[in-house]
Amino acid sequence: MSFETILIETRERVGLITLNRPQALNALNTQVLDELNQALDQFENDPNIGCVVLTGSSKAFAAGADIKQMAELNYPGVYMDDFFSPADRIANRRKPLIAAVAGYALGGGCELAMICDFIYAADNARFGQPEINLGVLPGIGGTQRLTRAIGKAKAMEMCLTGRQMDAQEAEQAGLVARIFPVDQLLDETLKAAQVIAEKSLPSVMMTKECVNRVFETSLAEGVRFERRVFHSIFATADQKEGMQAFVEKRKPDFKHG
Ligand code: CAA
Repeated sequence: MSFETILIETRERVGLITLNRPQALNALNTQVLDELNQALDQFENDPNIGCVVLTGSSKAFAAGADIKQMAELNYPGVYMDDFFSPADRIANRRKPLIAAVAGYALGGGCELAMICDFIYAADNARFGQPEINLGVLPGIGGTQRLTRAIGKAKAMEMCLTGRQMDAQEAEQAGLVARIFPVDQLLDETLKAAQVIAEKSLPSVMMTKECVNRVFETSLAEGVRFERRVFHSIFATADQKEGMQAFVEKRKPDFKHG
């Protein structure tokens, strides 16, 4: 499959997607979101892929939704097209998706990073929801995911003022899992992705589903959901192999089933 706005490659059991619109600082237009979904379909359907990494350039992960495209839009059009709904498909993926963010992650770029399961940031990363400066508001979940990630005080302040957060502040606030020097970001992210990809895929996918459940339910229901999923994993061969390998003091040989 060939793409115009992204690059894709495979490194062992990891799929790597690189946003590739340097002339627009990787601004997200409809084509980018569609191609992202096609690439993710490919990786989701490939049994040899256990984790996916999404990255941009050292200057910009993505500087937002494409303002030049949006400037032409009107209400009936965005409503009828359900504009930005392809982003929801990205959020509903079942294999883990890690964002490796260097440079600008603004507006839709910050929102796309937050859709991923966790964010590794370069020391030059900058996060923000500057839509307020354009007379609009976040439209790919920024008001919701940023608030869940860093709490109301900081999220409200960032969405209302449009100010940017640097990598240090983002890590302290809980938006970012870890920070690396910009030239090490991709290698470190691929290393973590490979660690995840070597685990049993059903246990990885079930873990992701359980952690995400926290945003949809009460504690009691969430614990109950986790317990049921935990019980079900005893039906997998990988559970037998993982525990037997521990008992026999050897490395497990997971078959991802
Ligand atoms: N959409 C379209 N084009 C963009 C863009 C965007 N979000 N961000 C940057 N570009 C384009 C610029 O127009 C410029 O193109 P030209 O060379 O053709 O003029 C090119 O990328 C390089 O950008 P700059 O010259 O502006 O680069 P800079 O280093 O001086 O500034 C920046 C970098 C501070 C990120 C600045 O580009 C900027 O402020 N970008 C817009 C950020 C923004 O407002 N993002 C939110 C978009 S709205 C949104 O995302 C809605 C939503 O919730 C989904």
